[in-house]
Amino acid sequence: MLIRTPKDWELPESVVTPESAYELRPRRDFLKTIGLGLAGAALGGRDLLGATGGFPSKENPDYPASALKPTAYEYITGYNNFYEFGTDKAEPRVAAGKWQPEPWTVELAGLIRNPAKIDVNDLIKQVGGLEQRVYRMRCVEAWSMVIPWDGFQLSKLVALADPLPEAKFVKLTTLLDPKNMPGQRQRSLDWPYVEGLRLDEANHELAFIATGIYGKPIPNQNGAPLRLVVPWKYGFKGVKSIVKIEFVAKQPMNTWRQMQASEYGFLANVNPNVDHPRWSQASERIIGAGGAFGARQKTLMFNGYEKQVAALYQGVDLRKFY
Ligand code: MTE
Repeated sequence: MLIRTPKDWELPESVVTPESAYELRPRRDFLKTIGLGLAGAALGGRDLLGATGGFPSKENPDYPASALKPTAYEYITGYNNFYEFGTDKAEPRVAAGKWQPEPWTVELAGLIRNPAKIDVNDLIKQVGGLEQRVYRMRCVEAWSMVIPWDGFQLSKLVALADPLPEAKFVKLTTLLDPKNMPGQRQRSLDWPYVEGLRLDEANHELAFIATGIYGKPIPNQNGAPLRLVVPWKYGFKGVKSIVKIEFVAKQPMNTWRQMQASEYGFLANVNPNVDHPRWSQASERIIGAGGAFGARQKTLMFNGYEKQVAALYQGVDLRKFY
């Protein structure tokens, strides 16, 4: 990963104030606010901001916005890693601006009883619609955000696919489209971007497929129209713009491990006690907080989700990041 090693200033947590705290608003209100309500209706209800339906979504009371201070929308959608659209954090928003990820089909394949190629909007209907959850997000580069996602629990998609007993892992693949994804014409990564989970991780309540942010369809630069969110793992697990979800018997190779196995693993669980070979993982820079000086906070084991997920890793040596 192209990394700027974080500066080692430390600020007390008391100075940490998000740039602004947004309220989660139903999408219809948002459209009204920006004056697109009628235009949206004229397009048969099709979103002008993205391909997916299912909005407005309801807050899941187990993951409320009131529990964490969400990062401002401008930071979540303006400071991105999406190498298909450039390696600089500010590039994806601009370079993916005109990209049209619709219509969009997702393929369910591999060791399952229900292989299918399914339109993303049908998929959202089949999993029972969208919900909102506010999750912490911790990038392996030692920065963090708090993101109000809209989407659905990955386990619902797994149930739809109905894996065979031989299926032990899930492999998720991003679209390969060098014509429209300029970064794929460079060799910055081995394309297409691939990530994977163990099947029991994919079935964990926290594993999520996001199709929105702040109650609106997910912007292109954040992985439209659907991306993975695994809040107890480093952000690179969150594969964007997924076209294929495959159930396999063996642990799949994931893109960053393929690039640099000594630095990026498969499990990739957030762990403040195991440093990246080139920098500490003990603390993180909070994006959008602390003004010009930035602000840091201690990184939590499993990114704060230890109680929920520690049982998944009994017997696993957590000092090994793969
Ligand atoms: N998915 C694809 N297809 N390509 C990428 O470059 N970057 C990953 C992950 N998913 C990436 C990707 C990394 S390193 C991070 S930290 C998160 O997306 C960033 O998500 P965000 O830009 O929505 O914050």
